[in-house]
Amino acid sequence: METVLSGIRSTGNLHLGNYFGAVRNFVKMQEANNCFFFIADYHSLTTYPTPADLHNNVKMVLAEYLAAGIDPEKSAIFVQSDVPEIPEFSLLLSMNAYVGELERTTSFKDKVRTQPDNVNAGLLTYPVLMAADILIHKADKVPVGKDQEQNLEMARRFARRFNHMYKVDYFKDPAPYNFGEDLVKVPGLDGSGKMGKTAGNGLYLVDDDKTIRKKVMRAVTDSGPTEANSKLTEPIFNLFTIMDLVSSADTVSFFKDQYANCNIRYGDMKKQLAEDIINYISPIRARINDSLNNSDYLRKVAKIGADKARESASKTLKEVREIIGFKPF
Ligand code: TRP
Repeated sequence: METVLSGIRSTGNLHLGNYFGAVRNFVKMQEANNCFFFIADYHSLTTYPTPADLHNNVKMVLAEYLAAGIDPEKSAIFVQSDVPEIPEFSLLLSMNAYVGELERTTSFKDKVRTQPDNVNAGLLTYPVLMAADILIHKADKVPVGKDQEQNLEMARRFARRFNHMYKVDYFKDPAPYNFGEDLVKVPGLDGSGKMGKTAGNGLYLVDDDKTIRKKVMRAVTDSGPTEANSKLTEPIFNLFTIMDLVSSADTVSFFKDQYANCNIRYGDMKKQLAEDIINYISPIRARINDSLNNSDYLRKVAKIGADKARESASKTLKEVREIIGFKPF
């Protein structure tokens, strides 16, 4: 079995983009792979959550992972900070990472540009910690979005450098994995671009019915087609993309026909879309709330996950320490 590993930074609730673009595929992958899915709470510290938010954000993502169908019996679902082997390994890897290459990563350069007053060292070493996350479980496949590919490239580089430095063939290259045909990009509601946490254009798994209706009714449209069978404009194409995910095929073709005949009323389409989104996510939302109200369950799941993750992590760390030359007296 191949090892699949991915992490989500606990910085906000999961939106439909996270769900359809990633988590739903994680759920499929757990059948045929040895999966590790974790909540990257150390990584969230670069943006300074308050102590109360730090914990709540982790709890939220954990409940959301479970509600989406990640099964703690099949996958190791764990919290990064429950695995002390990760920061130890990150320290060891940092000795093989050059400041120059870390400074040249796109995400670091972006931060230097956008928040020049807070260029903390955690931002610089972010790719090292991420490499530790990945290599400590010897992941074969790492499902990540485009924005994380450079970080994954760094992980491969650190793995090879370690092998080279110690003349071993210990780490293999973790490969990026984009789900092939299952890859879906969920657009935002603001007419262009994808749904994002920071873009303010998202629908969240925990949004209540009223919020969903309000957001969908406000989604950007256009002035409507004037010629039969015209091509969908971007904002309308985006609404259909979301509709394809949550509505029945009949509903989609009904509104596509109306668009083609130029008698579509976007208000009606949005009303239908909002109801279909509500139907789709309300069982997930109910499961999220059940878990949030059941601390015993969350504690148990986190413990099982941490135990599985530590078993695998401590084996790697022990071997790495031996390769480097640490010896007991
Ligand atoms: N950096 C990732 C993100 O922001 C989260 C992450 C941390 C991660 N460690 C990881 C993803 C290891 C994949 C593998 O989305």
